[in-house]
Amino acid sequence: MKLLLQGKKILLGVTGSIAAYKSVYLVRLLIQSGAEVRVMMTSGALEFVTPLSFSTLSKNAVHSDFTEDRNAGTWTNHVELALWADLVLIAPLTSSTLSKMANAQSDNFLMTVYMSARCPVMIAPAMDHDMYMHPGTAANLAKVKSFGHIILEPKTGELASGLVGKGRMTEPDEILDEVIRFFHPALPLAGMTAMVTAGPTYERIDPVRFIGNFSSGKMGLAIADELANQGAKVILICGPIKEVISNPRVELVNVMTAFEMLEACNKVFDSVDIAVMAAAVADYTPENVADEKIKKKGSEMSIQLKETADIAATLGKRKKVWQILVGFALETNNEEANAAKKLESKNFDFVVLNSLRDEGAGFGVDTNKVTLIWPGNKKQEFGLKAKSKVAADIVNEISRLKAK
Ligand code: CTP
Repeated sequence: MKLLLQGKKILLGVTGSIAAYKSVYLVRLLIQSGAEVRVMMTSGALEFVTPLSFSTLSKNAVHSDFTEDRNAGTWTNHVELALWADLVLIAPLTSSTLSKMANAQSDNFLMTVYMSARCPVMIAPAMDHDMYMHPGTAANLAKVKSFGHIILEPKTGELASGLVGKGRMTEPDEILDEVIRFFHPALPLAGMTAMVTAGPTYERIDPVRFIGNFSSGKMGLAIADELANQGAKVILICGPIKEVISNPRVELVNVMTAFEMLEACNKVFDSVDIAVMAAAVADYTPENVADEKIKKKGSEMSIQLKETADIAATLGKRKKVWQILVGFALETNNEEANAAKKLESKNFDFVVLNSLRDEGAGFGVDTNKVTLIWPGNKKQEFGLKAKSKVAADIVNEISRLKAK
């Protein structure tokens, strides 16, 4: 799957603010999104974090001076570095470097690179409240804004000085959002939040046993990835699976049982724009969970089960008009009729039907063959494809509904 910042070259300038430590995490987010990152630091920034953190994460040398090795007589070519970048991002930006930018004062390495760059510049100021509120800062910001720079306004909150006010650097995940928005201004789900349920649930019988199912979680993970790639922030509520997801725009919430999955969904559903219910949730759970391991006795045994909550139906009941709720129907017979019933009873906007009778569809495999069914008996059948392609078909439909 192509990552959103694949092939993008980002030159990150770090200046001397306490927020410099957050930029270490920012590099990680940018790299995870596929970007190539090079870091330059001012001497002030070197007081807060070591270049080693940045070079380890970016896998590139960090630049802070013209001279690389005085004995060897080598130097860093600031023009080459500036021309390499697709975006110069200065985060955190101190009031001192802001002032230098506004006045074209190229008295350090970072400033010479900045002034040699031909690509767009994005800045994330960080300073104390009173410094930020000073009219000189406002004038400098207005000036660099007139250069066409993108300004990520600092946030209000607790500052390093102990004061509470405006001046906190925009958080790394929000900076990542802005960088993605800069490179992809027209992502269909930009600014939206989605939740996805995925994987099986395990219902405890005793301390060593559970009732589970064969769901691998692959379909749900592919959907989470695709939603993120179309611009949404994703909360993935996932039962126990082997697969891993490393998309920085997907927040993973691990759950075990149907009840835990319900609780996690209830917590976030009201604030999401999109919910995709791809989990294979147990319909029944043991009436009682034994505290001790159940011992073998007799030739037969039975476990009394009770119904679990239907998570999708619970959410469907309180769905708002602006929310899109998508469900799955895994069937073995009477497929379309059963799926249509689920569409209605759970108040889905559309349902994704997969039949276990189709070879290559269902649990564990990397492919799926689905039919989308909408209210009013409208349906569309798709061929057998990789789960990532199926996810794209499903998310494209969500984007189409959202654009209406
Ligand atoms: N689902 C859910 N909570 C449950 C059961 C199902 O959220 N307790 C969701 C699934 O994630 C899926 C849809 O409801 O999106 C249909 O799930 P499925 O297991 O196919 O249907 P059930 O309603 O459980 O009906 P049955 O098992 O009888 O086919």
